[in-house]
Amino acid sequence: MFNSKTSFKAVILAAGKGTRMKSSKPKVLHEIFSKPLVGWVVDSINEIYPQNNTQSIVVVGHGADDVEKYLKKYENVTCVLQKEQLGTGHAVSMATSELKDFCGTVLITCGDTPLLKSSTMRSMVEYHLEHNADVTVMSAIFDNPFGYGRIVRLQDGGIEAIVEQKDANDEQKAIKEVNAGVYCLKWESVKGAFGELKNNNSQGEYYLTDIVCWAKEKNKKALSFVIKNPDETLGINSRAQLAQATQIMKNEKLNELMETGVTIVDSLSTSISPETKIGADTVIYPNTYINGKNKIGSNCKIGPFSHLRGNVEVGDYSKIGNFVELKNAKIGSHTNVSHLSYVGDATLGSNVNIGAGTIFANYNSITKEKKQSTLKDGVSIGSNTVIVAPVELGENVFVGAGSVITKDVEENSLALCRTPQKEYPNWVEKQKKLLNKGDN
Ligand code: UD1
Ligand code: CA
Repeated sequence: MFNSKTSFKAVILAAGKGTRMKSSKPKVLHEIFSKPLVGWVVDSINEIYPQNNTQSIVVVGHGADDVEKYLKKYENVTCVLQKEQLGTGHAVSMATSELKDFCGTVLITCGDTPLLKSSTMRSMVEYHLEHNADVTVMSAIFDNPFGYGRIVRLQDGGIEAIVEQKDANDEQKAIKEVNAGVYCLKWESVKGAFGELKNNNSQGEYYLTDIVCWAKEKNKKALSFVIKNPDETLGINSRAQLAQATQIMKNEKLNELMETGVTIVDSLSTSISPETKIGADTVIYPNTYINGKNKIGSNCKIGPFSHLRGNVEVGDYSKIGNFVELKNAKIGSHTNVSHLSYVGDATLGSNVNIGAGTIFANYNSITKEKKQSTLKDGVSIGSNTVIVAPVELGENVFVGAGSVITKDVEENSLALCRTPQKEYPNWVEKQKKLLNKGDN
């Protein structure tokens, strides 16, 4: 639908304080699966039209420096500062300098709604364009609409106004269709509103929602787009809502995996990040925590008690067992890391066997550097081995238990690195005799 690269932009409102989080950290930097809320929002926006490299303008205020610092990793994100939080309408006017001559659709959303799906936003943008609307507001139907702005509809299906809870009369309070806080604006048609919004309401704020009345006065078309799954609109204002959103995200992922042929033995004790892909017939055992972006093959066994910390790839038919932690690791097929091991910054081939208690020592705490290790196909590591990175072990290398490997090993070799065993005959008897002498 988009031919021009410049016809779609987003504004993300993220200047609010988030008082109810009771935190020294800005609200939008609180995390779900180790990714800040605003990161989930930016990523979803980037997925609406993946080819478009959508520019997002984030309005920052409370904790602006920290939020801006986090967002630096996105080259298509610009931050604008809203020094004083004078309302959502005022927040959008902070972004107008970035949108001056822009022609096209501006999607406005909040930095604290991490569950909103790119497919939902895309449907909304398409609805907005198909109906040639000037303003489209995302709405949701709630049994308990308390606290939200209510959508006042016109006879013709358009909308007349959004009335905030604090400004609503009894009749309006009975309305169950609420403003979800996401908007599409035909920018060239409505940008004039941002000099004209008033703050003559009970909160003394410049309400973005007043753009609906403004549009009506100017004979412009304002519509609402009713979201199918109201869960997606959940805004995070408290730790309880953060936990709730985490649960929703997690359960959705587990359901998706089960639908595609993955066995989840105990969904209550299993957490898998949305950015993890898992092949069919893999079984995930209880108490497994999988965070970040990962790719696990089919017919694997993961857990119980496994911890994957991101950037992990596991090939088909491999086994990751109990108390095994993986981070930045690429593991081939038919490979076993079955017990009590840490594998970080490593590439393991196929048919590799890692004995219990093997540790990849990948980090130098003085230089703060992490180093890579490579284990080729068929390598077998004895229990309680330390692999001190960087090392490379050739095909079929066999490492004896208890070794500390600090050098590369040629293929098909045995590497053994431990002090030879000594035996002292009758040592125990002698000790006991010595002890008895002392008693006399
Ligand atoms: C807003 C809507 C309400 C809607 C609800 C949905 C208005 C006036 N009301 O109410 O109709 O039902 O969202 O959740 O818009 N923000 C700024 N700068 C400001 C004020 C707010 O960046 O000066 C940001 C906040 O950080 C937040 C978002 O805008 O991310 C929404 O603000 P908030 O105060 O939560 O609005 P609500 O009162 O919930
Ligand atoms: Ca809110």
